[in-house]
Amino acid sequence: MTDTDIKKGLAGVVVDYTAVSKVNAETNSLLYRGYPVQELAAKCSFEEVAYLLWNGELPTQEQLAGFTAREKAGRALDPALKAIIDALPTDAHPMDICRTAASVLGARHPLAEHSSPEANMKKAIDLWAAMPAVVAYDQRRRHGQDIVEPRTDLGYSANFLWMTFGEEPVDEVIEAFNVSMILYAEHSFNASTFTARVVTSTLSDLHSAVTAAIGALKGPLHGGANEAVMHTFDEIGIRSEESLEEAATRAKAWMDDALAQKKKIMGFGHRVYKNGDSRVPTMKAALDKMIAHYGRPELLGLYNGLESAMDEAKAIKPNLDYPAGPTYHLMGFDTPTFTPIFVASRITGWTAHIMEQAAANSLIRPLSAYNGPEQRSL
Ligand code: COA
Repeated sequence: MTDTDIKKGLAGVVVDYTAVSKVNAETNSLLYRGYPVQELAAKCSFEEVAYLLWNGELPTQEQLAGFTAREKAGRALDPALKAIIDALPTDAHPMDICRTAASVLGARHPLAEHSSPEANMKKAIDLWAAMPAVVAYDQRRRHGQDIVEPRTDLGYSANFLWMTFGEEPVDEVIEAFNVSMILYAEHSFNASTFTARVVTSTLSDLHSAVTAAIGALKGPLHGGANEAVMHTFDEIGIRSEESLEEAATRAKAWMDDALAQKKKIMGFGHRVYKNGDSRVPTMKAALDKMIAHYGRPELLGLYNGLESAMDEAKAIKPNLDYPAGPTYHLMGFDTPTFTPIFVASRITGWTAHIMEQAAANSLIRPLSAYNGPEQRSL
């Protein structure tokens, strides 16, 4: 065994087939079940995309009506789960709340120990429907606000915003949020999806796999990057009175200094995409609309300044978390709520992979090369 036999971080290793999505780094493209994600984001609701990821085809009008009715029926926060969330400290990270909620919802599910394709589909839809209430309520309780009950006259994205802010959301914001949910839904064998597949491969249950995936997503090298991007903006300083150009100049100086100190800048770089993340242009367009909607050009200045300084210094491009972070900030989400929003979306991709893994399973169990002490005696 030599160093070259070891695939640190599994970089470049193909471990299985998937029909859920195709990431093509060469052409900068991402397909969900064959459809370009940009087209889905432009033309579909998140509910339609969730249906597509789980069923392989977009729904007919009739299928969509039945599907959305099921989602709406599962929106209310289970009082037993609310009591458990209330027992957790308000300064616990919202990802810890999400992780706990997924676990609790699993233990309380009537099909907890069932993993047939039908049981898994039902559990996936139930968990997907339930998560926005968890994320929304956790942000509210941290502000000392009461729970807002869901509304069945709103679509998934509008209801998510409603339950978080208790205000009628406007169309532009709903649209940008819907785009973000679609872009975050699925991305092949990323760290959290692979985690979910590893857990599933032991014949463990769907909620255990999702709970583990949430733990993997929390890290700043993965989903936690959208939160970390906002910390960077905060560190540079968001000054509402500043012009776009002034903000860009300060951001550029910050980046040059950070790179001189060999810092890793969150929201930039990707293990698979080396010439830009296929999802960024669509999310950036949504961010631009939010910047115009809220009248906050200085945020665009910070965004542009960091991006161009990184490009000049290292030619490393932004990933999806880079435009998503400031978009959620503008909408009014607390920074630590950003990654839980990602969870609410990625439940669709994770569970599609869980079902795919379960349908053609092989225990995932790689080997290691031992480099500890040679055999010795006590
Ligand atoms: N900031 C600064 N330098 C970066 C960087 C970043 N965000 N991303 C990569 N690099 C540099 C590394 O320092 C390394 O430089 P070196 O060869 O001089 O040591 C080189 O680019 C390769 O980076 P590496 O970390 O080995 O690539 P990877 O494929 O393992 O990394 C990520 C992929 C995502 C882990 C990495 O780009 C990163 O940490 N990004 C920030 C976290 C983030 O935004 N994650 C969300 C991903 S969607």
